[in-house]
Amino acid sequence: MTTATTTAPPVLHLAGISHTYSGQRRRTTVLRDVEYTFERGTFYTILGPSGSGKTTLLSLASGLDTPTRGSIAFNGQDLSHLGLGRYRNKHAATIFQQYNLLTYMTALQNVTTAMEITGAKPATGSRKARALQLLGDIGLDKAMATRNVMQLSGGQQQRVAIARALACDVDILFADEPTGNLDEGTAQGIIDTFSDLAHQQDKCVVVVTHSQRLAAQSDRVLNLRKGKLTEQANTP
Ligand SMILES: Nc1ncnc2c1ncn2[C@@H]1O[C@H](COP(=O)(O)OP(=O)(O)OP(=O)(O)O)[C@@H](O)[C@H]1O
Ligand SMILES: [Mg+2]
Repeated sequence: MTTATTTAPPVLHLAGISHTYSGQRRRTTVLRDVEYTFERGTFYTILGPSGSGKTTLLSLASGLDTPTRGSIAFNGQDLSHLGLGRYRNKHAATIFQQYNLLTYMTALQNVTTAMEITGAKPATGSRKARALQLLGDIGLDKAMATRNVMQLSGGQQQRVAIARALACDVDILFADEPTGNLDEGTAQGIIDTFSDLAHQQDKCVVVVTHSQRLAAQSDRVLNLRKGKLTEQANTP
């Protein structure tokens, strides 16, 4: 007699993902048969030359777009069954390369609005208090938090985008070059936050970067090149 063992499905599985952009004149195949399993409690970085398809891969994995071929499963459930909107709302947060902040709002409103939309409720206190705490943690005080985001510097806007993603209590956090506009000290603080989210809160954190220094601090380093995603051999 065999004993049935139940193991939880991985938090995210990419099964044979290919993606082609169809323009008027030509088609560009960016991803070719990408197969990878992301686990909880792990901090991943993805490296690759400009134009190799890193943002494309994140947009598929975060449910913003659907692959031309292949499928994506969250907790063992196909995203097309779960629903992309539900997946993006409840399970995955993304820090975009271009921030995508609501430009008519303050930093604080950007964070609290995302919490309202996703239904994220802090364990204690109000959404506003939690948002101010998150913004404060990454160096944006109350005076900055209540300023319109267009009156903030690029690096400050980037930090608002990070606080907004952290405010939503999700299973997977995707970030597209999140430290590109930050000084070394601030960048290190963000990297430590990502690491804590994975290791203390059992989240899956996936960060696209050009920084070898950031990659060296992650648990698993992936390379995207010529449409293929491979794991660096020297990662544990
Ligand atoms: N909407 C689109 N339509 C057509 N082609 C696109 C589209 N988006 C991206 N591409 C092309 O797909 C390829 C991969 O783009 P992507 O933005 O994913 O690269 P990346 O690795 O994120 O680059 P970078 O490091 O510069 O941000 C590029 O050749 C790009 O021109
Ligand atoms: Mg990109």
